[in-house]
Amino acid sequence: MEEKMVKSLLCTNLREKPETKRTSRKLGNIDFSKLIHMGLNENEFGMSAKAVEAMNSVAAAGNYYGDWTQKDFKGAIAERFGVDTSFIVTGCGSSALTDALGTAFLEKGDEVVLCMPTFPAIIDTAQTNGATPVIVPTTEELKLDMDGMLAKINEHTKMVYICNPNNPTGTYIGYKKLREFAEKCPDHVIQVYDEAYIEFSKSADCLEMVETMKELKDKPIVILKTMSKCFGMAGVRAGYILAQPEIVAELAKCGTQFALNKMAQVGAAAAIRDTEHLAKVKELNAASREYLETELAKLGCKVYPSETNFIFFDPHVDPSEVFMKMMERGIFMSAQAGANRVSTSTMENCKLFIKNITEIIAELKKSESVSA
Ligand SMILES: Cc1ncc(COP(=O)(O)O)c(C=O)c1O
Repeated sequence: MEEKMVKSLLCTNLREKPETKRTSRKLGNIDFSKLIHMGLNENEFGMSAKAVEAMNSVAAAGNYYGDWTQKDFKGAIAERFGVDTSFIVTGCGSSALTDALGTAFLEKGDEVVLCMPTFPAIIDTAQTNGATPVIVPTTEELKLDMDGMLAKINEHTKMVYICNPNNPTGTYIGYKKLREFAEKCPDHVIQVYDEAYIEFSKSADCLEMVETMKELKDKPIVILKTMSKCFGMAGVRAGYILAQPEIVAELAKCGTQFALNKMAQVGAAAAIRDTEHLAKVKELNAASREYLETELAKLGCKVYPSETNFIFFDPHVDPSEVFMKMMERGIFMSAQAGANRVSTSTMENCKLFIKNITEIIAELKKSESVSA
């Protein structure tokens, strides 16, 4: 079929949508099974054995639909956050829920305020629905510029996106500042807090927004949660939103209600209840993060303090060259926003990563000085 023909059938929003900024959408035919995964912030420490057991226990009954009410998964979430299940929407990863937010709330003429660099899915969501992303740069320390975002809010603003801690920078905004922001944000603006990495945080003031969402009842506050990161279930595809019941009721109309498969439901419920495994992952991640931060700093890289399972750093040589050369050596990391990002992994992988990047940076510095 001719591409032109398909394009003529497309809805205007998609036809006019600029190319995605999401690196993962542009990776093409890479065989990831042959690479060491340090590029997508996956969890190399693995998921809870109880989650695997739960998924296995229902796999053979895959010919029957799952529980449409999602009693078990929503029950586990409700217990964890002390909310009623009417505050919860589930979906196939938080990416699918970001799409649902777009379907429910965004249209042509709307503006979505965000800081860059951040996780760019929200830009796709805005543009897919005809809305315009309004981009504020991060501060010099690569933190979200909360005042800068507030200053960009006007009568056209429908949504503001806050990724805390932020991907790809790893930096965070403390609770006091976030709370002030939430209170100051006008009532017509949906505040989306993406807490994909918050379980990894070490700072006492890097806190979840669930209490704020419960307390500020008249503010449309939406909290995006994923099972892909600290719970190690990226391939299972499960996530959820915490929001006031009136918002949840609307999101339930956007293809979210029956989306989550039965394996994902029982696995995610078991993972949330396995607090012992979560604590172990956090500990292993913290050790790996500290090792990578220390060793990268020793190499002379500018390392940004991380509250996540990845480290953002400036290698002071071309980041895309570093990325390509690491790929040639079988290690998948990321190059974006003028720097590199590496996800934590087992200590063995981290040591291999440091050995290889040490050689590559030295090689690149040498060739730069020869050509200078
Ligand atoms: C900040 C952030 N939010 C959401 C996601 C996507 O999560 P999910 O796997 O639940 O779609 C990612 C994935 O890397 C992310 O970095």
